[in-house]
Amino acid sequence: MKLFFALLALGVGVSLAEKVRFDNYTLYRLTPNNEESLSFLQELEEATDAPSEYNFWSSPVKVGAEVDIMVPPHRSRFFEAAAKSRQMDFQVVMDNVQEHIDREDIRQKFASERFGWTSYHTYEEYNEYLRTLVDRYPNTVTLLQGGTSYEGRQILGVRVSFSSSNLNRGVFLESLIHAREWITGAVTTYVLNELLTSTDPAVRRIAENHDWYVFPVFNPDGYVFTHTSNRMWRKTRVPYSGSCFGADPNRNWGHYWNSGGSSALPCSETYRGPRAFSEPSTRTMSEFITSISHRLVAYLSFHSYSQLLLIPYGYTAAYLDNYNVTYPLGLRAAQSLASRYGTQYTVGNIVEAIYVASGGSMDWVKGTYGTEIAYTYELRDTGRFGFILPAEQIIPTAVETLDSLVTILQYFQ
Ligand SMILES: *[C@@H]1O[C@H](CO)[C@@H](O)[C@H](O)[C@H]1NC(C)=O
Ligand SMILES: *[C@@H]1O[C@H](CO)[C@@H](O)[C@H](O)[C@H]1NC(C)=O
Ligand SMILES: [Zn+2]
Repeated sequence: MKLFFALLALGVGVSLAEKVRFDNYTLYRLTPNNEESLSFLQELEEATDAPSEYNFWSSPVKVGAEVDIMVPPHRSRFFEAAAKSRQMDFQVVMDNVQEHIDREDIRQKFASERFGWTSYHTYEEYNEYLRTLVDRYPNTVTLLQGGTSYEGRQILGVRVSFSSSNLNRGVFLESLIHAREWITGAVTTYVLNELLTSTDPAVRRIAENHDWYVFPVFNPDGYVFTHTSNRMWRKTRVPYSGSCFGADPNRNWGHYWNSGGSSALPCSETYRGPRAFSEPSTRTMSEFITSISHRLVAYLSFHSYSQLLLIPYGYTAAYLDNYNVTYPLGLRAAQSLASRYGTQYTVGNIVEAIYVASGGSMDWVKGTYGTEIAYTYELRDTGRFGFILPAEQIIPTAVETLDSLVTILQYFQ
């Protein structure tokens, strides 16, 4: 009954919702140069989540670290003046964000094509794709429901196992926990397809020597919302106070939750939620991961953008656990990735490479189960297109990423 009403409310909400447009919205890149500038930006971030206001593509967390902020046209004069008065240099990365979104959304053209990687796909299309894999590879692919979202959507994934006993080492791929990072779901499903179809011996080896758990859409409510209402949505869709929606599902996991780099304010893009695992999606997925944790040797979570390969943990800069293994392995993985098209990644502990960010899924998996290999990817690019990476970059991004996965999993051979 509760679910029925939730779905009813959802249906009404969706049919009435206007799709937010970003005409003449400017994406600025700037660097807070002192504590005062930093707190100015932080206050701006926490002031509102109204789609017509500032939208932080990255968080102002420390002095000297670049921040990308999308500013509506009616705010740009104030914003530039405020930056200048604080001696913060800024550059305009995009002068009309909507233009980029329109170009990205050429997928109508492909409406009749089968599932592929020349365009981005919806939540329903990803689920449909997973189901077709089960039909096509019944001995290898198993459909799994890992969890359920606040709005009652299934969080679907597959297990791929070429071993009849399903006793290979487990590798987990997670994407689209941050809804607007569309490239991530495209990359994990591309990798999934390669695991099943590639004839490259190196790919066959990693495919067949592991049991794979692939969950393309970790945050279905947020992801659906990026298609129906607001392309720039990041969080879940749980209603919180002050007419703000959503906690950051990658600040909500229960390993050193609320240990820096997350916000207590529901309007913030990095709102950690009222408590660890407050979000149904993170709670149910954590239960699923627990159920297979004894199998897992690798947990890989996919984000965008910045071209980083990140090592636990996000709550401390200390080199814990097997950092002395994962750092050099990460460097080799980044080299493999670069050898394909020259794409450069930076490798490091989360805190060093970006900033403190506690409550992430990787921290929880590694911290709770000691999973040997755990990395977080921040995929292409470094800010030219940011979250709106053109669809023609899907395949190259996925191909180079797969190269790095081959290197990472050679660790177990
Ligand atoms: C965007 O800016 C251009 C140039 O200033 C203007 O002609 C146009 O009307 C603006 N579009 C919207 C939707 O405000
Ligand atoms: C990493 O450090 C641990 C603990 O100090 C040590 O036992 C191990 O041999 C080191 N591994 C490598 C690859 O250096
Ligand atoms: Zn992210």
